[in-house]
Parts: sequence; structure tokens; C-alpha cells
Amino acid sequence: VGKRNHEVGIQLAACTLVSVCGFLVTTYMVPLVGEKIKAKLYGVDIGKRGLGGPRDGERVPESLGIVSAMAFMISVGILQALFASSNGQMLEYNTALLSICFATLLGLVDDIIDIKWKHKLIIGIVMSLPMLLSYKGATTVLVPRPLIGALVKSGTDENDVALTALGKAVDALPSVHVQGEGALLDLGILYYGYMLALVVFCTNAVNIYAGINGIEVGQSIIMALSIAVVNLLDLEWRGASVEDVLSGDGSHHLFSLMLMLPFVATSAGLLVHNWYPARCFVGDVYPYYAGMTIATAAILGHFSKSLLFLILPQVVNFIYSVPQLFHMVPIPRHRLPRIDLRTGYLHPSKVAPGDDRDNMTLLCFALRIFGPMHERTLCVVLILLQVICAAIGIFLRHYVAGHIFRI
Ligand code: UD1
Ligand code: MG
Repeated sequence: VGKRNHEVGIQLAACTLVSVCGFLVTTYMVPLVGEKIKAKLYGVDIGKRGLGGPRDGERVPESLGIVSAMAFMISVGILQALFASSNGQMLEYNTALLSICFATLLGLVDDIIDIKWKHKLIIGIVMSLPMLLSYKGATTVLVPRPLIGALVKSGTDENDVALTALGKAVDALPSVHVQGEGALLDLGILYYGYMLALVVFCTNAVNIYAGINGIEVGQSIIMALSIAVVNLLDLEWRGASVEDVLSGDGSHHLFSLMLMLPFVATSAGLLVHNWYPARCFVGDVYPYYAGMTIATAAILGHFSKSLLFLILPQVVNFIYSVPQLFHMVPIPRHRLPRIDLRTGYLHPSKVAPGDDRDNMTLLCFALRIFGPMHERTLCVVLILLQVICAAIGIFLRHYVAGHIFRI
């Protein structure tokens, strides 16, 4: 048993080692690839235009997210070669790599030619199919305590569940199972709809929460770290044999960790160069690949519902952006904050010249609430917000959910 106890630790140690290599390779390669880019992939740092300092008007190489995406996929490929077969996780690794590869490609194509929204949406749906088709987890949600009474008449057993308050709407759903004191609502096909929406959301959410140095990579690293923490808390691998871990829910958490650690590492390598003042931009390839990786880790890690707390700033930023995204309010090509050339501080930018409304992003909102800030300070503030949301999400999942859901 002692030897077996070591195995999970060995896999996590190997994962950490591969991740550290991924970090080093990414950090080393980003500037090299930046020099070699043939296509005209570069951007001007709008947040520093006219400042006269470093990067003012300079061409900053664009789309360097591809380096971290490649380093990540190679890292996961190595972990797959080492562990997938003996762990019986070949399908999970293949599915994840395929979906993430697909998203990376879509992001890169979007950097080269601007793809229309509706086309991206259609491609997004197709690209989430491999994952949805191989998802073998539960399609049930726990019914919160206060709702159990409304949903299920007391005294009914598992075979004869009376649905009351939700009436016909719930009749259309597959089933409700009463389990001891709690109740499980099986959403069936609707749950797949939810996961599909999650993938499409995640692949776009990071990209529209962008515009200052380091924010796209920074937010993704925090999301991934919080997913890793959820996995580690649920895994309880210490003292368990690798068989125990693989036969139960632990298998999903171990797999999810195998994605998150290399992701954090290769993203950190990119952040080294994308942090203020950015020497590279990440392109659209990064947010697509990052969003897909995060969605994959959450879905195949079987906690696609808890994920919503970990990505709360992205959800809020998206909902806040809706009027502009759907053209009910004017939307400029760039919604990033406006720089005051005298102070060098960022201010909320307007939706159109002569229009008094701020661009509807969390970036501009934070500047409205806390006042003008330096670009780097704003990035740190928004990353801290992400940390706070993640901490609350992790706390709710581990210490509060049991009371609400009677588990
Ligand atoms: C998304 C946002 C857009 C934002 C842009 C910036 C929506 C709907 N779209 O558009 O509002 O302005 O991202 O990332 O919310 N840039 C900087 N500093 C940075 C990062 C980017 O100046 O720290 C500029 C550079 O010119 C860079 C360009 O933004 O070349 C990249 O923009 P791109 O990713 O193509 O914009 P979108 O994703 O279409
Ligand atoms: Mg972008």
C-alpha cells in the first residue's frame, strides 16, 4: 500500500516538473518568436500612445499567446504519454487536446483575418462537440433545501416523485430523484445545453475583458489557480491509493490538475513579457485557448457549476457589455480606457465622440468607482478582484454548499 500511496504524488510531481519546463520554455521562446513573425502581426500599445515614453508608437509583436498554447499542448502531450494509458484516461486527454487545439486554431485565424461574430459562434459550437460527446459525468443538479419542498411532496419515494410548484415546466425534464433528505434534479439534455453555452462563453469572455497590459493572462492564471485549488481540495489524494483515486471522482480531479498546472506555468511564461510595459501582445489566440482550457478543466473535472463563481468577473463584464455587444449602445473598435497624457493615468473611455456614456466594461467601471489609475495599478486591482471572487467561490463550494444542498 505504501508504494501505491506514492503514485498519485509521483504523477503530481511529474506534472509540476513538466509545468516548470513549460514555464521556462515559454519565457525563453516568446521574444525569439516575436522577432521571427513574418505575417504583419503586431499592434500599437494604445494605452501608451502619445506618452513619449517606452513603447510609444512602437510596434509590439502580436499573437504571442500561440507560444504558450504550443508549450501547453506539448506539456499535456508528455503527461498523456506518461500517465493516460495506465490511468485509463486516454479519452479525456484526447478530447481535451482536440478541443483546445481547435480553439487555438480559431484564435490564430481570428488574429490573421477578422472572423465575424456569428461565424465564431457557429465554429464555437462545433468545437465544443468533442468534449460534450465524451462527457460521462452527471447531468444532475442538487436541489437547494428551500426548494425541495416546492419541488417534491414530502413522503414520496424515488419511483414516484410528485412535482408540484414547477408544474409542467419540470414535467418536460427527465426526472427528480429523492436521495435521503436531499433531491437531485436530472437536467438531461438541458445540462448539455448548459455546458455548450459555458464553452462558447469561456472562449469569448476573456477576450472582451481586455485592453490593458497583463489583464488577459492575469485573469486566466487566477481562474486556473482557483480551479486547481478546487481540485486539490476535492482530491484527498494523501493516503489514498492510485486505484482509489482513479476509481472514484478523484480521477476527474487528477486529470483537471494535469491541465491546470501546465496552463498556469505556460501562461506565467507569457505574462513575464506581457506585464506592464508589455513587450508582446497575446492576440486573440490566447483568450480562445485559455477560455477553452478553463472550460475543459471544469467540465471534465465535473464542477462546471462551481466554475461560475470562479469566473464571476467575466460573467459580470459580459452582462454589463451586452448593450454594446448587441449594438443597442454604440461600440467603438476598442473599448479600452483612455490615457490622460499629462498624468499618465487611465480614465474611463466613452462609447462614442460626444456621447457621455462610459464604455461598458469592468475596466472603465473600476476607473469610474476608484478614480483614474496607472495602467499597472488597474491590472493589479482587477486581478485582486478575481482573487476575491475565486476565494468566495471556493469557500462557498467547500463550507457552505453542504448546508444549502443537504449533502
Ligand atoms: C477586444 C475588446 C476591445 C479591446 C481589445 C483590446 C470587446 C468587444 N472587444 O477586442 O474593446 O479594446 O480587445 O485587447 O470588448 N492593446 C493595447 N494594450 C493592451 C492590449 C491590447 O493597446 O494591453 C491593443 C493593441 O493595439 C493590440 C490590440 O489592442 O494590437 C488587440 O486587440 P484585439 O485583441 O484584436 O481586439 P478584440 O479582441 O477584437
Ligand atoms: Mg482580443
